[in-house]
Amino acid sequence: MDSLLIKGGVPLHGEVTISGAKNAVLPIMAATLLTAEPCVIHRVPDLSDVKFMGEILTSLGATVSFNGGTFKVQTRKIKDVGDYDLIRKMRGSVCIMGPLLGRLRHATVSLPGGCIIGARPINLHLKGFEALGAKISVESGYVHARARKLAGADVFLGGRAGSTVLGTANVMMAAALADGVTRIESAACEPEVVDLANFLNTMGARIIGAGSPTITVTGVKTLHGAEHEVIPDRIEAATYALAAAATDGEVTLLGARPDHLHAVLDKLRDAGVKVARNGTALTVSRNGRLKPVDITTLPYSGFPTDVQAQMMVLMTLTPGISIITERIFESRFMHVSELARLGADIEIEGPSAIVKGGKPLSGAPVMASDLRASAALVIAGLAARGSTQVNRVYHLDRGYEDIDGKLRRLGARIERVEET
Ligand code: EPZ
Repeated sequence: MDSLLIKGGVPLHGEVTISGAKNAVLPIMAATLLTAEPCVIHRVPDLSDVKFMGEILTSLGATVSFNGGTFKVQTRKIKDVGDYDLIRKMRGSVCIMGPLLGRLRHATVSLPGGCIIGARPINLHLKGFEALGAKISVESGYVHARARKLAGADVFLGGRAGSTVLGTANVMMAAALADGVTRIESAACEPEVVDLANFLNTMGARIIGAGSPTITVTGVKTLHGAEHEVIPDRIEAATYALAAAATDGEVTLLGARPDHLHAVLDKLRDAGVKVARNGTALTVSRNGRLKPVDITTLPYSGFPTDVQAQMMVLMTLTPGISIITERIFESRFMHVSELARLGADIEIEGPSAIVKGGKPLSGAPVMASDLRASAALVIAGLAARGSTQVNRVYHLDRGYEDIDGKLRRLGARIERVEET
C-alpha cells in the first residue's frame, strides 16, 4: 500500500491543469447504460473510482475502452445484475439503478452500506423510483426495483440535509425513459447534475430546469449514443487553491470554472486570500495576513462539504478562532484527530469544529480515512515544518488524478513510497 512522504515548508508556485470532475463523470458513465448505441466521453480523469465504474459497466455487459482521457462505451445488451462486490465497494455506483430501471424496467444492485462520513441511506432514491411506479424490495443485501409500467410523476426529493445529488441524478435518468412528465422538486442544483442533464439531452432526452430546485423530465421512447466533454472538477480546483494559500505560494488553476466556485472563492477572499481571474484561469495567493472565517457546509450553491476539511487546514494556520459547521454528513470530522498530530488545536462541539488557529504545524505520520480528509492531510503536510507521512493514500487516488505529480510540478517536495 502506498503512502505519501512530504517535506513541508515550500510555497507552491506555478500552473496546474484541473482534471474532469469525478462527481460528474460517474453518473455520466452510468447514463450510457440508457442506450444500446456507442457513447464517447472526454476529459475523463484517471481515477480508481472511474476504473471501478468501468468494471461495473463491463460486468453488466458493456464493452469499454479508456485512453488518454477518452472513455468509449457501448452496452448492446444488458445483464440485469451487476457484480455485487464491485458495486458494494463504490457508493457512487448506486447511480446505475436509474438507468437500469429506465431501460429494463427493473434494477438490482447491492445495497450501498454507510461509509466513514455518514450513514448515507438511499431512501430518497427509492422514494423517487416508487413515485414512477416501481416496486422496491430489499433481500440478501440486494435492493430490487421492478416496474411493469414506468410513468412520469411529481416527486419531492428533499431530505434531512436538503437535496440529494445522486438521488436527483438517479430519478432523472429513470424518468428520461418513462411515459409522461416527471417533475422533481427540491432537486439538487450541483453543476454535476447540470452536466449529467446536458449529456442526457445530447442523447435525446427532454430535461429542463437542471441547476434549479425544479427539474422537469418529459419521457421519450429511446435514447441514442452521444459524445460529451465532462466539466472541470471544482473540488479539485478548490483543493489546489487552498494548498496555494496554506503554503503562502502563488498557483494558477488552468481550466477551472470560477462560476462553479462562488461560495469557496467568497470565503477565501474573506480569509485574506487573493483570487485573480483571467478567463478560465484563476491565480490564488495570500493577500497579507490571513483572517479567521466561519464556514457552514450546505447543498450547492452553499459552501461544499467536499471542501470542508481542506478549508479547516487553512484555518488552523490562521491566528484567531473560526467555527466550521458540517450540515451535510453526520461524521465528517475524521481529519480532526489527525490534524491534532501535526499540532492543530481543534475542538468538536456537536456538528461544529472550533479551530483555534495560528500555531505553526509540525510534520508527523498521519492516517487518511476518506477522500477529502486525505486531501486535507496532504495540504497540512505541505504547510508544516519537517516531514509528514500520509498513509493509505488509496483514498486520494479515488478522487485526485496524479496528485503527487501535479504537486511536484508546483515545487512540492513530495514522493510516493511503500507504506512502512
Ligand atoms: C454526492 O454524494 C457526492 N458523491 C459526494 O462527494 C458529496 O459529498 C455529496 O454529493 C454532497 O455534495 C458523488 O457525486 C459520487 P447526497 P451523494 O445524496 O449524492 C442524505 C466526494 O468526496 N441522504 O447529496 O451520495 C445523505 O445521507 C463525495 O467526492 C438521505 O438521507 O450525497 C447526506 O447526509 C463524498 N437519503 C445528504 O442527504 C438519501 O436517499 C446529502 O447526500 C440520499 C441522501
